Amino acid sequence: MNIKNFIIMMACLLTAISTQAQPPSLKKQGTATQLHVDGKPMLVLGGELHNSSTSSIDYMSPIWPVMKAMNYNTVLAPVSWETIEPQEGVFDFTLVDAMLEGARKEDLKLVILWFASWKNGGSIYMPSWVKRDFNRFPRAKDSTGTSIEILSAFSEENMKADARAFRALMKHLREVDQQYHTVVMMQIENEVGILNTPMDFSQNALELFNGPIPDQLGQYLKKNKKNITWDLERVWKARGSKTIGTWEEVFGISKKGDPSRRRDYDWHEPYYYTEELFMGYYYAQYMGYVAAEGKKEYDIPMYVNAWLKGPDYPWTGLHPGGGPLPSVMDMYRCAAPSIDFLSPDIYVPHFTEVVEWYDQLGNPLFIPETRGGSLGADRLLWCIGEHNLIGFSPFGTDGRRSPERPMPVSNPLDQLSLTYRLLQDMAPIILSVQGTGQMRGIFVDQDNAETKFTLGNYEITADLYTRSTPVPAGGPLTSGNSRTVNRTVSGGGFIIWLDQDQYLVFGRNLNVRFKPANPNKLPLAAVDNVYEGEYRDGEWIPGRLLNGDETHCSTFSGTGLKMPGMSIQKISLYRYK
Ligand code: DGJ
Repeated sequence: MNIKNFIIMMACLLTAISTQAQPPSLKKQGTATQLHVDGKPMLVLGGELHNSSTSSIDYMSPIWPVMKAMNYNTVLAPVSWETIEPQEGVFDFTLVDAMLEGARKEDLKLVILWFASWKNGGSIYMPSWVKRDFNRFPRAKDSTGTSIEILSAFSEENMKADARAFRALMKHLREVDQQYHTVVMMQIENEVGILNTPMDFSQNALELFNGPIPDQLGQYLKKNKKNITWDLERVWKARGSKTIGTWEEVFGISKKGDPSRRRDYDWHEPYYYTEELFMGYYYAQYMGYVAAEGKKEYDIPMYVNAWLKGPDYPWTGLHPGGGPLPSVMDMYRCAAPSIDFLSPDIYVPHFTEVVEWYDQLGNPLFIPETRGGSLGADRLLWCIGEHNLIGFSPFGTDGRRSPERPMPVSNPLDQLSLTYRLLQDMAPIILSVQGTGQMRGIFVDQDNAETKFTLGNYEITADLYTRSTPVPAGGPLTSGNSRTVNRTVSGGGFIIWLDQDQYLVFGRNLNVRFKPANPNKLPLAAVDNVYEGEYRDGEWIPGRLLNGDETHCSTFSGTGLKMPGMSIQKISLYRYK
């Protein structure tokens, strides 16, 4: 080997070693933010465990292989303050180490959920020495001055105790995981926010609420006045866009509501909004401090997750108020720069609306909790195509174990699991086009059965592939003695523009049709060829050449693809006149 080749080889080796050594991080690609692990972008195909599963090593040991068999590449798993610091200042990482070992054996990554000061608004995961010492670790108060079992976000003692434990955890992770990168992200707390009261009425909180807004917030509003969330913009501008004054002077005296008639209100409207912003700012400051202390030891991406508002929980106190919803995103951006993004836990039916709401101000999309199954699969595919997804994760993936059903089982027909399998090998191509404008997402259901957009040189229409099943109307099932109902609930997919007249589509329950976007020169389009296939290790492996009944290839049914089940297809079109 000559000296020049030797130098090139050494340089490549050193670059490979140094990117491998970098901890997981977030990087921009065009309009997308991507999670990078071991020097490469990663798509998290995750599943979140039930809350108590990781508190027992024996309980977890048969579950890790099942997670692998269900095609997850990442498990979202809690680590609680009570288990790692049972005595003040005395740490025990036995359960953490067992989790790392269980995940590594199955080649799985972990997102660790830090259950500490708050979980679903309440305070239940702090150690006994915190629980019992309510003088040192004060609770929030309602408007009558009665304590609520929620650690007050306005206590420095609470914040510092939590941050010390979190920092110890991050130090441990640096020591035992920085060469493996099994842990790729951290979730700070879980679904925080004040419950049963619109704000914390403890002494410290009231003084701050009745005083001027923090100078840092005033500066933020001045600097970002054209770049704030649409919820805040509407209210703040209507009050004269002030940057100094008390919370109520700057953001107004909130509209109030009657909780017993909650369903009569439009949850999109801002009720108790000033209280929500106020709580949001101080929750963000607290969690931002915890995250920043942890990052001093081991700097990996950290996010917060929200219990959403909706028809049943229209305002702060009914849902955990001040939690990381887009309506308070600006408070988090201002008070918690160490928190990388805000995530929704989506159990509400208006899934697409929530995702669009979170995709603001460059906030990347990661969905730590939602529903799985076939609807989950369709939503996932849409998120990939339309919102530069970092990752997706249904909740409770280890199942509800009972004596009759001692083990979770992987179901080979589960549509999400099947989708995950196909996506794992396809991830490199998806990640390579994120943020470039070459990809779009599709979601259709019985209420919105068609969607249309232009991508590249074609206008694309996608609609729900309906499958009708005969239903007996009494008597023997004959064609004259049955009626049919549509059994297809939803369809989803994404489409990548590969080149001039070539597209790659991953779809489920779809018809996808193509028309020239600019019909001036050659106004007509037809199918040259369609291959179904799949990716293996990022390589396209073609299968059947689809034609005839398996495509829309004639003028009367349009030009394009039929995707009655789940399918990956590559289409090449041509133009004529
Ligand atoms: C949302 C929480 O974040 C989870 O930890 C879990 O409690 C689920 N709800 C249960 O549905």
